[in-house]
Formats: sequence, structure tokens, C-alpha cells
Amino acid sequence: MTARDGRRMAAVADSITITDNRSGQQVELPIVNGAIDAKTFSKFLPGVWFLDPSFGATAAAESAITELDGERGILRYRGYPIEQLAEHSNYLEVAYLLIHGELPTASQFEQWRFDIIHHTFIHENVRKRFMEGFHHDAHPMGMLVSALAALSTFYPEAKDIHTPDVLSKQIVRLIAKMPTLAAGAYRFSVGMPFVYPDNSLDFCANFLSMMWKIAEPRYDANPALVRALDVLFILHADHEQNCSATAMRTVGSAHADPYSATAAATAALYGPRHGGANEAVLKMLTEIGSYENVPAFIDQVKAGNGRLQGFGHRVYKNYDPRAAIIKKTADAVFEVTGKNPLLDIALKLEEVALADDYFVSRKLYPNVDFYSGLIYQAMGFPLDMFTVLFAIPRVSGWLAHYKELLGQDARIARPRQTYIGAPARDYVAVGDRSPLN
Ligand code: CMC
Repeated sequence: MTARDGRRMAAVADSITITDNRSGQQVELPIVNGAIDAKTFSKFLPGVWFLDPSFGATAAAESAITELDGERGILRYRGYPIEQLAEHSNYLEVAYLLIHGELPTASQFEQWRFDIIHHTFIHENVRKRFMEGFHHDAHPMGMLVSALAALSTFYPEAKDIHTPDVLSKQIVRLIAKMPTLAAGAYRFSVGMPFVYPDNSLDFCANFLSMMWKIAEPRYDANPALVRALDVLFILHADHEQNCSATAMRTVGSAHADPYSATAAATAALYGPRHGGANEAVLKMLTEIGSYENVPAFIDQVKAGNGRLQGFGHRVYKNYDPRAAIIKKTADAVFEVTGKNPLLDIALKLEEVALADDYFVSRKLYPNVDFYSGLIYQAMGFPLDMFTVLFAIPRVSGWLAHYKELLGQDARIARPRQTYIGAPARDYVAVGDRSPLN
């Protein structure tokens, strides 16, 4: 029996007993892996639902991908601590780990790398006819959401989600094409010609080449910046049942193809409460403008005028382990690029907030987005590319969830509601209506 099985067996011994005060009947519900089975509950109490609109108290899946303990600041992919992966691994290896459940052997990794590199090109029509049809100032996230959905029309076989080889092919395509779509959206927005992928470069170096190459035959990015991007991609690759992963699983549960489901997840990530927060942090720091304005800004937040962007997390109530790694990465990047002038404002904000009872009592700490934007800006990325940079690696996490969900033969996501609208009433002819009915 493994330690893990031991934990599971110990948990089964735990239970809660619920009494229905209307009938006096009781039911004992075992607590397994920290959860009670809602199906057992609803068999006992038909027609009584859990009201939990933001899923704050609901485990929406049994998942073996990412373990997150918010109280202890722990994040592990397939059991491996994020700190070790950030130090020793690379994004493509982490993507393999998330999708396949184990770290690859040397030959498995070579094959995986080869497959990804050889699927980075996009159909010419996606670029020329589709992406170049956007308005000149289109937000790259809007372009990305639409381009991902459009890809499903280029690969109609993707609908065959139950044939493992076909699904694996789409997974490789999606991971491989994200940087190409992302860089393509950027080049279009600044009126620069599209740069084709360079198969001689690694994943992150290739992305930077597609972003910044001008007339040189080969663009070789600074290795320190390539490594920093790789670490950021590792940190952003998955985060268990967050808003976008939930969108991916919900759409996937309807058996939509992986491109359409990824487009839905990307749309969720676009929101400022989720992946859009890194952009919001930079706007906030720019608005604050100087170190001296920090205390006044904090007072405004405490008075309820806006939020301190990049602070707080639904799950982490101690610290976000990704934020600690990102701070180190920032130092490495600033050594190459020079310090981002907004860094002093960010450090002062963190210092003031962490000493203030408003933030301490609500357990609000810097999250992954607080420092990532400063790094992206120092590397030359424009603000509206920040969330795109989050989406590129997160696609591997989304696809791991999609694959897991299909493997579990999950039922379609279909929550219930508590109805709070008008009671039954008769239709009123248009001439008989008053403004109130
Ligand atoms: N600044 C000021 N007050 C805050 C903040 C903040 N950033 N976040 C939460 N609060 C307060 C909130 O007003 C509430 O106070 P009270 O109890 O007096 O009403 C309390 O803290 C609890 O907040 P909540 O809204 O119930 O918390 P939540 O778990 O629903 O929201 C969150 C989590 C991340 C959406 C929120 O903290 C937030 O809006 N943060 C700023 C945006 C941000 O940085 N998002 C990135 C999240 S990490 C990356 C990712 O997921 O993509």
C-alpha cells in the first residue's frame, strides 16, 4: 500500500451526518479526499441543491494534474514541486508532464520536441485571410480567441475526440501553434510583416524570433531572456480548477473539439479578474506614477475605490509560490534589460500593503500577476500582449484537463439553479401592458 493509498483509506473513516429536520431522517456521508459525494447527498435530499454560484465550496472534478494547497502555499504539477520544475525543467518538458502524467525519458522528450517544432506553422489562410482581416488596433487576445476557434475549421478531424492518436495530434498542434498565433497577432498590430517559425530554434527562442526579428537571417535572443520566459511559461502552465480551466472542462464536457474548447478557455483568461490582471497591474502602476503616491493609492483601495491589482487570490491565503519565483526571475531579466522604473512603485506597494491590517486581515498577498507584467514590459512586450503570454503556456494545462475529462468519461456539465424570478402568470396582450408588467 502506498502512502497515497494510506491517506485515502484514513480519509474514508471520516464522515459527516446530516439530519433532515423536516423528516428527522439522517444520512452519513463519507469524506473522501476532503470531499463528500454530492450524488449521495442529493439522493437523500432530492430537490435540495448546493447554492454555490462561484464554486467557492465545490470540488468540480477529481483531478490528478495539479495539487494546490492555498494555506501552505504549495503548487505541484503531477506531484513535482513548482520550485524544482522552475529550477531544473523547461516549458516543453513540463507540457509533456502535464499531458502525459510523467516526465519524459530522453528519447520521449526528443520525439515530443520534434513533433512540437514541426507543427508550429499555421495555414496561410489563418494568417492572410483571417488574422489580417482584423481592425488595425484589435486586441491580440481578441485575435487569439477567434483564431483558435477558427483552427477547428481547418482541422475537421479534431471532432473525433475519442481516437487517442487524433486527439494527441490536436494537442501537439495547439501547443505548437500558440506562439505563432500570438506573435502573428502582435506583428499585425504594429504593421510588421509576419515572421515564419524557425525550426532550428527552441520553443521560447522561436517565439522571441517571431516577435522581434527584422532583417537579420536568424534572430538569436539573449539566452538569459529565453530562460526567463521559459520559467514564466513553466509557472503559468497550469493552476488546477481556475476560471479558464473550468471553462475548458465545461465546454469539453459537451464534447466540443479541443480548438473550440481552448478558444472558450482563452476567452475566460482574457478577463481582468483572471489572466487580464497582469495588464491591469501595469496600468495601475503607471497611474500611480511615483513612489510618493503609493500611500494615497492604498487609502483609496481601502475606501473601496478599486482593487490593488495583482493582489489576492481565491485559493492562496498565505502566499503565491509563483510570485516568489517570479521575483527572482525579475532580477535576472533586469540585469539584462535594466530595471523597470515601475519596480520601485511595485515594491513600495507590496511593503505598504503587507504592513496594513486591511490586506493582512483579508489574507491578500501578491499573486503571480503582480511582478510578471514588470518583466514582460522590461523585455519589450507591449501591455496588451501580457495576457497572451499567459495563454501560450496555459494551453498545455487546459489540454491536460480536457484529456483527463475525456478519460473519465465525465457527464456533461449541467448545474442546477435556485429560481428567484416571477411566479407563473398569464401572457398579456401588447395593448393591455402597463410599463410595470
Ligand atoms: N484589492 C483590495 N481588496 C481586495 C482585493 C484586492 N486586490 N482582492 C480582494 N479584496 C477584498 C475584497 O474587497 C473583499 O473584502 P470584504 O470582505 O471587505 O468585502 C475580500 O478582500 C475578499 O475578496 P473576494 O472578492 O471575495 O475574493 P475572491 O476570492 O472572490 O477574489 C480575486 C479573488 C483574485 C478575483 C481578487 O482578489 C481580485 O480581484 N484581485 C485583483 C485581480 C487579480 O490580481 N487577479 C489575478 C488573480 S491570480 C492569476 C489568475 O488567476 O489568473
